[in-house]
Amino acid sequence: MSVTELEHSTSLESAAGITARPKVRSLGYVVVEATNLDAWVAFASDLLGLQLSVRTDDRLEFRMDEKEYRLIINKGETDGARVIGWEVSGPKDLAQLSQILTEAGYEVTQMNAEEVRERRVTAGARFDDPDKLLTLELHYGLREATDRLVTPHGNRFITGRGGLGHVFQAVKNWDAYNTLYFDLLGFSLSDHIEGGPNGEIDLTFLHCNERHHSYAFAELPNVGSAVGHLMFEVDELDVVGRAWEKVLEEDAAPILSTLGKHTNDKMISFYVRSPSNFGIEYGTGGIVIDEKTWTPTRYSAAHYWGHNRKTPVDPTDAADNS
Ligand SMILES: [Fe+2]
Repeated sequence: MSVTELEHSTSLESAAGITARPKVRSLGYVVVEATNLDAWVAFASDLLGLQLSVRTDDRLEFRMDEKEYRLIINKGETDGARVIGWEVSGPKDLAQLSQILTEAGYEVTQMNAEEVRERRVTAGARFDDPDKLLTLELHYGLREATDRLVTPHGNRFITGRGGLGHVFQAVKNWDAYNTLYFDLLGFSLSDHIEGGPNGEIDLTFLHCNERHHSYAFAELPNVGSAVGHLMFEVDELDVVGRAWEKVLEEDAAPILSTLGKHTNDKMISFYVRSPSNFGIEYGTGGIVIDEKTWTPTRYSAAHYWGHNRKTPVDPTDAADNS
């Protein structure tokens, strides 16, 4: 079946109220390569309040909800985010999305039994993103833990249907990412923010569930291809405030942007540099949207207040552009 035939059949099914077009449902997990695991324990557990659930000489796993993990840190020779796991709703969507991607020219590999066991999912497929920066893994059935979540500071994270948070990525091949995320993976437009000194940078925000955006991307001069930041959301401003205090008073992590409030998702957050160099946004109060009634809008700035960048600003730093 061709993509056109597939879209036609799914639109007929949709019209009949049977099912919707196959699409990504949420941000499921992130895998990072890191040279210093101890630094990640201090950063993710002590500062962000994630539960360290697995620790070996070459691997860390962190929990933030009922899932067995949401963040994996693998020991390696270099630092950086390596894998984004996008959750889909089941075997039919996994097969259809794999077919759509393959027909669009992506080399999609179904996870074998060992890879499925390693990720603790029911099934999955992986492919390289257009800039060859990240491996994207479509999956469903990420395993749930049988023991209670016990975060070190009692933090509660906002996940569920909205997934673990969001990713902002600086891209070189804007058209390819636009096609991949909207046309192939089924994301919808949340809004645009004009970035840069003269509003010349187009920051694009996309949703795939009730979270205002699960993914955002932009072409940034001097940056090229990079994961700018990964966002974690907690349920109380006090939790963000206590973490911000640790950053200010205990130098818990290098500051990228001060505490501030975003225009589009209304998140109150700050940005710090993770031990693997990409940014982490830590915030609260992100809006929940109704996918059926949401209308995209546009902003001339990303912040109502705050989010001042630590000076001097590294021009290659993509962390706080959303
Ligand atoms: Fe963000």
